[in-house]
Amino acid sequence: AIRIPYENIPNFPVSTVAGHAGQLVYGDLAGKKVLILQGRFHYYEGYDLNTVTYPVRIFKELGVETVIVTNAAGGINTSFQPGDLMIITDHINLAGNNPLIGANLDAHGPRFVDLTETYSLRGQAILRQAAAQDGLHLQQGVYTWVTGPSYETPAEIRYMRTIGGDAVGMSTVPEVIVGAHSGLKVLGISCITNFAAGFQEELNHEEVVEVTERVKGDFKGLLKAILAEL
Ligand code: HPA
Repeated sequence: AIRIPYENIPNFPVSTVAGHAGQLVYGDLAGKKVLILQGRFHYYEGYDLNTVTYPVRIFKELGVETVIVTNAAGGINTSFQPGDLMIITDHINLAGNNPLIGANLDAHGPRFVDLTETYSLRGQAILRQAAAQDGLHLQQGVYTWVTGPSYETPAEIRYMRTIGGDAVGMSTVPEVIVGAHSGLKVLGISCITNFAAGFQEELNHEEVVEVTERVKGDFKGLLKAILAEL
């Protein structure tokens, strides 16, 4: 693999989250050429959405075909357990912002982007099949995007449940919207790290990290298994 620290890439932002390496990794994996962002950029860190989604624009320019976005999320759907992996079938944008606001990048896509089928149905089917082969149970559902960095209130979670959210998190949707704008195939997987606010006694980042550490083997196996099929 070739590893390029973000500070060596022109105009690339630098990650502020502790524990994120902040490098772009390029190499061969399961018969595919892959680019991996080791450390992504969150809106709550203070970056504007153009900066958050800049890597996706670069991916498009480099000829990438499919973007796979992963995240940690709180479970709103009461049948979800911490440690579950969820295929993102759709999203709800509750952040009150959109990465496409501003001059349209005509070379990448249209002004008004259709998000009817944002998450590749074929990709989702490949994920389900790979999981079934590994005996891995996959949830599926709607990811709700909030800015963070505070976690939600129990009242907000009840609202999200009412409007159809299954999971909630502070990332992913900006990159997905820009991916859709530039015609990339998009696939999303959430790791449910906790019950959402009001469904468990308290929320903390340590639990989020602990659960992602626990399931990262499953996560990696699943990614490798689907790469070959994409
Ligand atoms: N809310 C928002 N973001 C999250 C959560 C949550 O409960 N868990 C992990 N990321």
